[in-house]
Amino acid sequence: MFEYNVITRRCSKEEEIPYDLLLLADETIEAINRYIHQSDCYVFEHQGQLLGLYVLFPINNHCIEIKNIAVLESAQGKGIGTLLIRDAIQKAKEQSYTTILIGTANTAFKQLYLYQKEGFEIDDIKKNFFIDNYPTPIYEKGILLNHMIMLKKTIEQ
Ligand code: COA
Repeated sequence: MFEYNVITRRCSKEEEIPYDLLLLADETIEAINRYIHQSDCYVFEHQGQLLGLYVLFPINNHCIEIKNIAVLESAQGKGIGTLLIRDAIQKAKEQSYTTILIGTANTAFKQLYLYQKEGFEIDDIKKNFFIDNYPTPIYEKGILLNHMIMLKKTIEQ
């Protein structure tokens, strides 16, 4: 587990958007721009370096979605992603949301493991989401990235 507390800070709308990190979880700036301006971005910084972030996008008064979550490559595998997921659930709870969603690709086995470990359940599949929304086919480890798997967690208030 990560040796420091992961305390996040909500970015102000005036701050530069941290596209470098956001692009670890999304293929294009265009895709990020479809949600980032209507979302809150929470960052985790350590010794002046941005190590991780997540983005919360309200769907309605009850439901919020983690649209992006990313940890700097050199800091991955140390528990930061797990703590960011927990922090996102806590922030949603503090804002009285009762459901939190996260979507990931059919090819994202590590992410599917992480989200289910943290209590999310597969709820829906957006068939051909990546085919329809991205200009060229994307392959990961030889598998076509096509469907978006949506996972959901109920937040006890
Ligand atoms: N292969 C398989 N499992 C791995 C792994 C790897 N390379 N690296 C870590 N894991 C496991 C860990 O063992 C841990 O499980 P455990 O608690 O049972 O040990 C779990 O995955 C989470 O690891 P953690 O260190 O908390 O996550 P992280 O800090 O690496 O962050 C991501 C996870 C997904 C946010 C990070 O990998 C990332 O930024 N990836 C690129 C962007 C991305 O794909 N975002 C999600 C889009 S849906």
